[in-house]
Amino acid sequence: TTACEYKPGLEGIPAAQSSVSYIDGKKGILEYRGIPIEELAVKSTFLEVAYLLIWGKLPTKEELAAFETEIRYHRRIKYRIRDMMKCFPETGHPMDALQTSAAALGLFYSRRALDDQAYIRAAVVRLLAKIPTMVAAFHMMRRGNDPIQPNDNLDYSANFLYMLTERIPDPQEAEIFDRCLILHAEHTMNASTFSARVTASTLTDPYAVIASAVGTLAGPLHGGANEEVLEMLEEIGSVDNVRPYVEKCLKQNPKHKFMGFGHRVWKVKDPRAIMLQNWAEELFEKKGRDEYYDVAIKLEKVLVEEKGFGERGIYPNVDYYSGLVYRKLGIPNDLFTPIFGISRVAGWLAHWKEQLEVNRIYRPTQIYTGDHALSYIPMEERV
Ligand code: CMC
Repeated sequence: TTACEYKPGLEGIPAAQSSVSYIDGKKGILEYRGIPIEELAVKSTFLEVAYLLIWGKLPTKEELAAFETEIRYHRRIKYRIRDMMKCFPETGHPMDALQTSAAALGLFYSRRALDDQAYIRAAVVRLLAKIPTMVAAFHMMRRGNDPIQPNDNLDYSANFLYMLTERIPDPQEAEIFDRCLILHAEHTMNASTFSARVTASTLTDPYAVIASAVGTLAGPLHGGANEEVLEMLEEIGSVDNVRPYVEKCLKQNPKHKFMGFGHRVWKVKDPRAIMLQNWAEELFEKKGRDEYYDVAIKLEKVLVEEKGFGERGIYPNVDYYSGLVYRKLGIPNDLFTPIFGISRVAGWLAHWKEQLEVNRIYRPTQIYTGDHALSYIPMEERV
């Protein structure tokens, strides 16, 4: 007998008590530490939001300045990590490179001194500081170039864009990118955050916590969807082909999953998708419209209005429009999910800290469906 009903995917089952973030999926509300995402997106910066999530309150001017300085100081990566990354195959996916490099940080900095607040702060700073550098370094090296050193004159987001291109980015573009990081920083008990908390609950080191969360984020049902959305839009190719594409997919499989649609918790259009769409338009005014944006709008209309997705609560999620913003910033498709990871490190670290404060190891149960007391069959008797 089990204490409660089995729910595949643990749907609706609380896995922790948390004060990090809140979602009302019917009203379209997302709050970080009680503050609505719409407000943070335009008034704050990614590093301030990371501070808010991890330490539970907005920093004072001095606290934020100290945090930013520490992050700036720790942005470089050790040459051994760079040399290790040089050996990665250039055809490997940047998410796999990120997972491996995040885990490798543990080789250099792991002490598992989880009762030492200075160690916790250093781990927070190192992970936030070095992960963007590692993503950019892999990207440069897979193209046969040396990695670009972080630029101390640039803030977090501008520096990341600089390390990808060796060009100082336009301030408006860097600001839009920073807002994108804010939107992706935290999202309650999603799969990767759950994974981070399970790993954290064993009292392993924070680099292992982040590496396991990165691996979880990579899948197409989670963060990997942003890259797949662009592949889908490219496959559709033109506004005229939207309807034939939808009909073809649904004919082949009436339950076809369209990437960037649907969510376990959101039953209205994700407020982050709405903001990302606006920012894509902001960029188009300056840099020209993206042909795939029109394809995306048409696909949303056809699915939501004509195919009844709206009535069933299936709307665009955060991954639907983010890739169109990144594309306008000149970022290749396979870096979309690593960028999601760069940002979500903030949320994972907040949950890591929260888990440590109340820790009990995760050890759920199962419903056994196999046999009992079977005999071992000798090889020659097996069929
Ligand atoms: N396209 C078509 N139908 C869908 C979709 C979709 N994208 N998403 C859900 N549905 C349907 C699904 O077929 C099912 O129908 P029915 O009740 O008739 O069987 C119903 O909606 C419930 O779907 P589910 O798959 O049982 O829902 P879930 O809560 O287990 O899965 C999800 C949530 C996000 C994995 C799913 O919506 C999905 O696979 N979406 C596409 C991938 C995607 O965009 N992922 C990004 C998620 S958002 C942020 C992030 O994590 O990166």
